[in-house]
Amino acid sequence: MQKSALVTGAGSGIGRGLALALARRGYHLLLVGRDQTRLAGSAAEVSVFSTAEVFCADLADPLARSRLIEAVLARGGAPMLLVHNAAAMPYGDFIQRSSAEIEAAFAVNLLAPADLTSRFCAAPVPPQGLIFVLSTAARFPQPYNSLYSASKSGLRALAEALQVEFAGRARVCLAYPPLTESALTRGFESGAWPVRKADALTVAERIISAYEAGRDEISWFDWEVLPSLFYRLAPGPFRWLLKAYRQKLQDMFKDRRA
Ligand SMILES: NC(=O)c1ccc[n+]([C@@H]2O[C@H](COP(=O)([O-])OP(=O)(O)OC[C@H]3O[C@@H](n4cnc5c(N)ncnc54)[C@H](OP(=O)(O)O)[C@@H]3O)[C@@H](O)[C@H]2O)c1
Repeated sequence: MQKSALVTGAGSGIGRGLALALARRGYHLLLVGRDQTRLAGSAAEVSVFSTAEVFCADLADPLARSRLIEAVLARGGAPMLLVHNAAAMPYGDFIQRSSAEIEAAFAVNLLAPADLTSRFCAAPVPPQGLIFVLSTAARFPQPYNSLYSASKSGLRALAEALQVEFAGRARVCLAYPPLTESALTRGFESGAWPVRKADALTVAERIISAYEAGRDEISWFDWEVLPSLFYRLAPGPFRWLLKAYRQKLQDMFKDRRA
């Protein structure tokens, strides 16, 4: 039987790379996103190595999620590998975020992965593996990126809990990509940001290699390792430091996407 993988947010960035990396390893791809044209582009790239189907769905919409899950189950059952990659990152001052942005951040980043996981894992033949694409923003609070940080922290807790609950049945792999070139980070240009962005295809290839090698977690040794470690060891002083550098943080997360 051919291996299959469902990748959310497969029309761009790291998700497009994950789809390609899986296609190169012989997986049949189920590509999910909102933008039909971008998904068709990913499907065309994937077709050099394997086969793909496109599912257009807004993961923030519970009805659309339900339709997606039913369509996938009706076509061939649950995918062998479920890759939770889609994300929304409405950064900037918290009080300027709209209700729609708040809802989308939690729905896409946390509710959708929880919903898809529970429905597919209850199928007669459940997935054998799950990859959760997290972020270092799940490892320490990021002021001015609070909705992303809070929803990814929730996703991290869910993934770590499922690593235990699913042990012996399905493998759960946590991925913490470095700062990467993509639509999500457009506007995070060097100057305000201390580092260069990684290439999305290279990051995706490393995530899939790590999963295929049986690793439970993959992270990069980048600049965010330091604040993550500092927060874990000394949360009080870390919060004091965040307050001291509040203006700098606000500048870093200023919207420069115009
Ligand atoms: N780039 C980085 O520096 C970085 C660092 C750490 C972690 N990550 C994580 O890597 C993952 C991929 O991000 P990326 O950097 O590759 O950015 P990206 O290219 O913007 O990818 C995000 C994807 O999510 C999809 N998406 C957003 N809202 C959706 C919705 N409501 N319904 C369905 N799909 C939706 C988008 O597709 P449509 O617009 O077609 O719907 C898009 O393909 C995310 O989980 C992100 O948190 C990225």
